[in-house]
Amino acid sequence: MIENETLFENIRRQFPALTQKVNGREFVYLDSAATTLKPEVVAKRVYHFNQYEISNVHRGAHYFADQATQKYEEARKTTAAFLNAKTTTEVIFVRGTTEAINLIAYSFARPLLKENDEILITEMEHHANIVPWQIVASEKRAKVRAVLVKENGELDLEDLKSKLSSKTKIVAVTACSNILGTVNNVKLITELAHKVGAKVLVDGAQIVSQEVVDVQDINCDFFAFSGHKLFAPFGIGVLYAKKEILETMPPYQGGGSMISDVCIESSTYNDVPYRFEAGTPNVEGAIALGCAIEFLKSIGFTKISEHKKDLLEAATEGLLKIPQVQIVGTAPRKGPILSFNLLKTHHSDVGQVLDQQGIAVRAGHHCTQPLMKRLGISGTVRASFSIYNNIKDVDLFLKGVKKAQELFQ
Ligand code: ALA
Repeated sequence: MIENETLFENIRRQFPALTQKVNGREFVYLDSAATTLKPEVVAKRVYHFNQYEISNVHRGAHYFADQATQKYEEARKTTAAFLNAKTTTEVIFVRGTTEAINLIAYSFARPLLKENDEILITEMEHHANIVPWQIVASEKRAKVRAVLVKENGELDLEDLKSKLSSKTKIVAVTACSNILGTVNNVKLITELAHKVGAKVLVDGAQIVSQEVVDVQDINCDFFAFSGHKLFAPFGIGVLYAKKEILETMPPYQGGGSMISDVCIESSTYNDVPYRFEAGTPNVEGAIALGCAIEFLKSIGFTKISEHKKDLLEAATEGLLKIPQVQIVGTAPRKGPILSFNLLKTHHSDVGQVLDQQGIAVRAGHHCTQPLMKRLGISGTVRASFSIYNNIKDVDLFLKGVKKAQELFQ
């Protein structure tokens, strides 16, 4: 424990954002589910690329173009290994989770779906894993259905089983709810979905910074995540897709790099993954993502999970001692995400009191309006923990919530 405390204090020092004061108070960042802070090593990697290595990829006939291409492709290799993909060609760089899901909705679901086919999502999905399916379903006269969420925030697996049928063509589910913290058994869900012949997309946005992901073990067909929730910059994300499926899919966007031959009337397309990376990609983002993955690997997920679990437990225990607190999401298997409300108090007011004390949380519906409707609330206050948080952050957070409770009671 002491050894780990020292380790995580050293890690904390690698995040200069935390040395700042907000409203004259020590800055406590508890909004990592929205985006993680960036370690110096990643920020410096972006700077170095832009200052010394800048070049476009897959195009130039010169030294730096070749170097940039190699580094971009190395980042793809690092990402493929991180997910345990079978081959690097199964990794497509996109802008983020949202673009990855839209790509699958457009290039996989659209050609596949027929009238009355079904896409099965869950009530706990982020809007990014709801709206793209609605768009394609409405065009193809297919239906979007949702698996129920239980009162404690667990997914109702019996309901899932009852909704799976030969009509189900796609199951799209989050590995970890961005509001409830619930971690879903995506391996089991994939197995059940495959039995009825459906393909499975896993929204991995919240899980990737928490535990080892093994796409071959899960056996999902698609897996999406965003770099910015994994210590990398905004604007870089990943779509993993099984190669045999990718090869059957038409392009999502047209442009340079995604072609093999272009005539005025028609074109032929490049192999995967390039077929899905039209235009100049986010080269520095991909390289920085590779760097962020190496940074995480150097810490190790066992230690990371233990650390976050300790913080989540301490924060949960402390919150339960504060009168009028209602925790939203108490599933047995949870990521480091803690949503709550103070009875008769608007979540934005609590967020504001915390902000005045230098504590950054998110307050609102967290892009999960169907879940809010299901739970009969308009929003929550959400604290989310990461590798740079410590027990002092938890104490300051609890003091802040207590202050809000006293103010509004
Ligand atoms: N999806 C991000 C969140 O939950 C933005 O805050």
